[in-house]
Amino acid sequence: MKLRLDINGRKLRLHVPRGIRLLDLLRDYAGLTGTKYGCGEGQCGACVVLVDGVARKSCLLTAASAVGKKIVTIEGVASGQRLHAVQEAFLEHAAFQCGFCTPGMILAAAALLERNPQPSAGEIAAALQGHLCRCGTYPRIVAAVTAASRRKAARRG
Ligand code: FES
Ligand code: FES
Repeated sequence: MKLRLDINGRKLRLHVPRGIRLLDLLRDYAGLTGTKYGCGEGQCGACVVLVDGVARKSCLLTAASAVGKKIVTIEGVASGQRLHAVQEAFLEHAAFQCGFCTPGMILAAAALLERNPQPSAGEIAAALQGHLCRCGTYPRIVAAVTAASRRKAARRG
């Protein structure tokens, strides 16, 4: 089937198998391998992307359900050459080790800061609850998201 999707601000027309999941379309047909295939069944959060600004597990969505919506993957979260505040904070806090969980974590954190610009550590942990990090970098991730919220506030001010 043919699908027309808005991914990272680009309109893509793709010929894909009927019923394909959004995760598989992104990785196998759009070349966006920053979206990770972890468990494939909604348990790990590695495949999270933004769909109309909401963090969603792309392994649980059909690609067809994303037609007409704005999809943002880790490849599209920066503004041109300027990294997203969460990306900058992850780098500064070394909030990753192997990096496999990082794209999903960054996108979930970016969505959190849009709806709650000044989250507490508890709120950050709750927002990232569905994300598994096998390297155990959770404390640095929470610190990075806290720093990103301050950075975004400073940019606004
Ligand atoms: Fe989607 Fe694990 S790959 S939640
Ligand atoms: Fe390795 Fe999170 S940094 S899984």
